[in-house]
Amino acid sequence: MAISVAITLDAIPLFAHLDKEELARIGEVARERSYPKNSVILFEDDPGDALYVVVSGRVKVVLIGEDGREVILSTMDKGDFFGEMSLIDDEPRSAHVIAMENSRLLVLRRDDFHRCLDTTPRIALGLLRALSKRLRQANSQIGGLVLLDVAGRIARLLLQLADGDDGSVITAKLTHHTIAQMIGSSRETVSRTMRTLIEQDLIAVSQKTITIKNRKALQLAAGLR
Ligand code: CMP
Repeated sequence: MAISVAITLDAIPLFAHLDKEELARIGEVARERSYPKNSVILFEDDPGDALYVVVSGRVKVVLIGEDGREVILSTMDKGDFFGEMSLIDDEPRSAHVIAMENSRLLVLRRDDFHRCLDTTPRIALGLLRALSKRLRQANSQIGGLVLLDVAGRIARLLLQLADGDDGSVITAKLTHHTIAQMIGSSRETVSRTMRTLIEQDLIAVSQKTITIKNRKALQLAAGLR
C-alpha cells in the first residue's frame, strides 16, 4: 500500500466510519493517479469502470451541449468522490468530469469497489449519505433556476460554497465564466451582478477569495431563511 494512500483514506468522509482493518483493505487495492489541469477524467456515456476520490486539486462535473456550451453540475475537491453512479446502476457515465486544477485522485476499480461494499457494508451508508446530500444540492439548483433571478442564484451558490469552506470565505478560484456555467447565466450578466453585490457590501472580492460580508442579505436574495 502506498503511504500517501494510507494517510489519505481516513480523511475521506466516505470512509470516515471504517476501522483500521477496513481502511487497510481499501488501501491495498486503491491506486493514486495524477491528472493535469483541463484533462478529462471521465467522458459522459463511457462505460463506468472505477470510482474516484479527490486527494488534492479540484474537478468539475459537467454536461456539454451539442453547441459546446457547458453546464457545471458540481465542483469537487479534497475528500469528495465521483464515478459511483455507473458502478451502482451499470449505466454509462452520466456526465463528464474534468480537472479544474492539477489533481491527484485515488482510483478504486469496479470489482474492488464491489468487493469493498461486500466486505465492508458500512461504506454503503457513507455513499447513501453523500448521494442524499447531492440530491438536496441538485434540488436547490433546480429550484434556483426556476424561482430565483441571477442575483439570487449567485447568492445561493456563494453561500453553498462558503459553507463547504469555513462559512465566510470562498477560496476556490472562481471566474465569472465558471460561475455563469454553474448557475445557467452569461459571463456578462454574472460580472454585472457581482459588481452590484460588491457595491451593496454583501460580498468582497480579492484576487484569491470571495468573502461573505452580509450573510443575512445573501440568504434573503437566495430565498433562504
Ligand atoms: P458517473 O455517472 O459514474 O460518472 C459521472 C459522475 O459525476 C457521476 O457518476 C457522479 O459521481 C457525478 N455526478 C453526476 N451528476 C452529479 C450531480 N448532479 N452532482 C454531483 N455529482 C454528480
